[in-house]
Formats: sequence, C-alpha cells, structure tokens
Amino acid sequence: MNMDLCELSPSYVRSIAPYQPGKPISELAREFGLDERNIVKLASNENPRGIGPRTRAAIDAALGEIARYPDGNGYELKLALSRRHGVDMSGIVLGNGSNDVLELLSLAFLGPGRSAVLSQHTFAVYPLATQARGARAIVVPAKDYGHDLEAMGNAIGEDTYVLWLANPNNPTGTYAPPQQVEALLRRVPERVIVVLDEAYNEYLPADLKGDSLKWLKRHPNLVVVRTFSKAYGLAGLRVGYGLAHPSIADILNRVRQPFNVNSVALAAAAAALDDMEFVAKSYADNLQGLRQLEHGAAALGLEYIPSFANFVTIRVGKAAEIYKRLLRRGVIVRPVGGGYGLPEHLRVTSGTPEENETFLAALRSSLRE
Ligand SMILES: Cc1ncc(COP(=O)(O)O)c(C=O)c1O
Repeated sequence: MNMDLCELSPSYVRSIAPYQPGKPISELAREFGLDERNIVKLASNENPRGIGPRTRAAIDAALGEIARYPDGNGYELKLALSRRHGVDMSGIVLGNGSNDVLELLSLAFLGPGRSAVLSQHTFAVYPLATQARGARAIVVPAKDYGHDLEAMGNAIGEDTYVLWLANPNNPTGTYAPPQQVEALLRRVPERVIVVLDEAYNEYLPADLKGDSLKWLKRHPNLVVVRTFSKAYGLAGLRVGYGLAHPSIADILNRVRQPFNVNSVALAAAAAALDDMEFVAKSYADNLQGLRQLEHGAAALGLEYIPSFANFVTIRVGKAAEIYKRLLRRGVIVRPVGGGYGLPEHLRVTSGTPEENETFLAALRSSLRE
C-alpha cells in the first residue's frame, strides 16, 4: 500500500503528540526482568492507601450485575453527589474519569476557528483535547511555576470559548488562592467556559478549599471538575464528574456516550463518597508523605516546588537521565520535560512511607552514579 493511512485524518489530529502515561509496573518488570513486587510506582498520583472496605463491598455486590448495562443516567451516584455538594442533579455530568468530562467539554465547545486558553506547565490533556477538535491552544507563560491568572484573562481572544484551569495544578502542585480565581471569573466574558479542574481538591486543607461550588450560581459559564481517581482511590475504575449550569450539563450529556461510566465504577464511587473516614485518612497520609519527600529532597540539596496536591515536583538536573537510573532501581516516577516543559524536574507521587523511602534511597544513589 502506497498511501500513509494517517494522511486520511485532519492535519490537526495528525500533529497531536500522544499522551505519555506513567510507565505501568508490568512493563518495567518485563523490560528489566524485575519482580513486580519489588517495583515502586510513584508516577500517576494514585492513592497508596488503595480503597476502603465499604467501597470494596460495593464493588463485590456490583460484580453480580455486570451482564446488564449500567444506568446510563447514573441516578444513584448523581443523587449522592447532589446531596453532598448541595447542587441540583440536572447540573451533574458523569465521566469515565474526569478526563472524559474534559473531552466532553472540548467536544461541545471547541472546534476549528476557536481557541482555548491554558497555562504553561499544566495538565497535558488540555492541549490534547483542544488540538483534537481543531481548536488553537493559547499557552500563557507560568509565574513561579503556577498559573498567572491575570495574564490568562488578558490572553482571552474573540475566538476563545474555553479556559482550562487546574487548581491545584498538575504537574507543579501549585495553588491559586480562591480570591484570584474569583477575580478571573468576574472578568471573563460569559461566552468563555471556565473549566476549574479540582482533581486534587481533597488534598487541600479545609481553609484553602475555597467556594467553587457556590460560584456556580453566580457564574453560569463555570464548570467544576472533580475525580474519584485520587483521594478516593478509584483510578483504575475511571469515574469523575463535572458540576455546571444545567444548560451546560445538558449539552455535555448530548455528546456523551450513553453508557460512559460502567456499573462497577458507579457503585464504587457512590460508596467511596460516603466513606469520609477513608478520605480523611488519605489526606493525613498524604501530608506526611509530602513532608517526607520534601525533607528527603532538601537533604539531598535539591529544590522542589512546594505542593498542594499528592505529589512533589523535584528539580534533579538531568531529569531524563535520573529517570532512567531510577527505573533500573525499580522505581517509576514521572518525567515532566517534553510537553510539560520542565526538563530538569521529576514529579513524584506521595506513596506509603516505605515507598517514599525506597524512592529517596534510589534517588540518592542515582544522583551519585
Ligand atoms: C489536573 C488533572 N485533571 C484530571 C486528571 C484526570 O484524572 P481522571 O481521568 O483519572 O479522573 C488528572 C490526572 O492525573 C489531573 O492531574
């Protein structure tokens, strides 16, 4: 065949650089002939605590019903979310991970001739989802590794329909205070959908959480996105949600696959939402883990970006090389050069105390190698 079949897709799709996920444990085990049990993965901001017993029981019960399609409307989970957050069910959109909600937003509001504003060093899915719809990404230089909200507001053009904003941000762990986010919301034209991605919200201390859900009433162009992948420990099941004005939720539901969230995930998420104790313990574990990683990095004479999430991004110098040395020692972290623009840093998820210690010891010897 002479034809390159890739040529059949639009040029804006062909030019997408694929998302680089954290290396799976099984892949590293195959590549280096390592025992999976000895590998430490701190690459994808997962919860080292796993899941709670109530969530496990809900999963076991849901397994008996998997021959049937899930409830495409996710009634039980939406009811639980609406009670928890004091929002109307008609303003909730469920996704196959919050990533799915981000895709739905780009599908519904972006396209050729439109643009989206986002920050340098932010979540890789924003430029990907923007480009996949043929829209233009306006990337605003970061300030002290975080979002420069004023510059982001200034960057909005006539053709801008979406502003992507992760708070706390991934991969830097930086945090924008609520007053600044609200000031941005006040000045953004109503036409621009502000996607406030709060994937790491549960890791913020109560006094920093802000009132994003209250803002929904005042700002109908705001969409708050949350996930069950982080503090709730359900990354592998894929559940996230968006909270929005019912008209926006209505549009998103039109472009959504009818059964985008599977039945086991729906049951697990509803149970996990109720398990406040598990989330409180995950929060406390994480604080300890962050301190351990930060102290460990400082003891090695390394700078790190103070984090408000469940990972720390550490400046190690030749990060691509150190990443490889860590892999040989059975430790997987996340390089954030490439699309993230931080070639001297590595992002490290806060794991169990033992995992963090294994990482720090491997880092110490990798730096000396
Ligand atoms: C800022 C941010 N948003 C969204 C996601 C997507 O998470 P999920 O699709 O698992 O809900 C992530 C995952 O790392 C993230 O860091």
